[in-house]
Amino acid sequence: MKSDFLKYQAQTTPHPLALEITHAKGSYIYDTEGNAHLDFVAGVSACSLGHCHPRVVKAVQEQAATYMHVMVYGEYVQKPAVAYTKLLASLLPEGLETTYLVNSGTEAIEGALKLARRVTGRSQLISARHAYHGNTMGSLSIMGFEERKAAFRPLIPDVAFIRFNSKDDLKKITEKTAGVVLETIQGGAGFIEPKNDYLKNVRQRCDETGALLILDEIQPGFGRTGKLFAFEHYGCIPDILVMGKGMASGLPVGAFTASRKMMASLQISPKLGHITTFGGNPVIAAACLATLGEITETGLIAQTLEKEIVFRKLLKHSLIKEIRGKGLMLALILENSDIANHLVLTCAKKGLILFWLLFEPKAVRISPPLTISINEIEDGCGTILEVLKMYGQ
Ligand SMILES: Cc1ncc(COP(=O)(O)O)c(C=O)c1O
Repeated sequence: MKSDFLKYQAQTTPHPLALEITHAKGSYIYDTEGNAHLDFVAGVSACSLGHCHPRVVKAVQEQAATYMHVMVYGEYVQKPAVAYTKLLASLLPEGLETTYLVNSGTEAIEGALKLARRVTGRSQLISARHAYHGNTMGSLSIMGFEERKAAFRPLIPDVAFIRFNSKDDLKKITEKTAGVVLETIQGGAGFIEPKNDYLKNVRQRCDETGALLILDEIQPGFGRTGKLFAFEHYGCIPDILVMGKGMASGLPVGAFTASRKMMASLQISPKLGHITTFGGNPVIAAACLATLGEITETGLIAQTLEKEIVFRKLLKHSLIKEIRGKGLMLALILENSDIANHLVLTCAKKGLILFWLLFEPKAVRISPPLTISINEIEDGCGTILEVLKMYGQ
């Protein structure tokens, strides 16, 4: 299977990890050689409830047997999408009551960028250095990492960049700015949190200039940082909230949420301001509903912070310079990228799944399922410490 994978399935890295999967359950992924791999990555923060969570599986199976795709987005009334967007609205602050469901995080960002331009009638988009918002042309245009963009230029015009956490740079936001797009906690950059009321200051500057604040919660959303959405930690409510990844616990989905008034602008001049065939797909919406129900009806969100404490307590080693992030969105910052690579690759051989971050080569991601147990955390941290102890010997 591996040689066919390398031959027929398009590759975008020279050396994919190429683990051959048979099945996955809870916090473990199983390979064709019968090995169990403890998953500290959760499909890059996507499998919030672990693998094949019974509530999600049941919801998907029942909906798949009832109806799957019946019409393009937004024409027919389909219970899973209606129930889901209603539940989401009940959990979000006022002004974030209408949700457009799409197929991926990057499509949700595209929708948010279009909405910001459409609502304000302005064109400039501002994002942050080292920002990652996805890989379609709009998202790529606001990516703050030139090395990954240069080959695809020209990208969309009228994009400017600010330094995340720099109050000085906020003066670049002006009456010409349609939207300011920020990850609430920067992911690819190395799990960088906003500091010293940064997001409140961005909010204020957006209010002064009429620019819309778009927060990308595709990675930190859905309980991963100890709140349903990370913006709740920082006292700052966006005009447009973008989500994805963990919302369906492992199925492809994204969404952007705004006020009913703003969202209504996508209905006129031109109508069909955003079109998607599969957005709001009933099977995926059923998985979203089951995931959100499980996250909010159990103690999972609060446990996220308790589990963070366990990780921070256990992962003490001279080669770990810092642990960044919040809740179960953690990054080990190693002394250098060689150690980071060694850690990811050697742990993989020992049955522990870790992964890199996009733009910070010294970092190793720890973003396990929210459902991970304390025993599993202890096991995995034991492997990490064992590998670091052996490093260089
Ligand atoms: C913060 C952030 N925004 C956007 C995206 C893009 O989401 P997707 O890969 O579903 O298009 C990601 C994915 O890693 C992300 O982490």
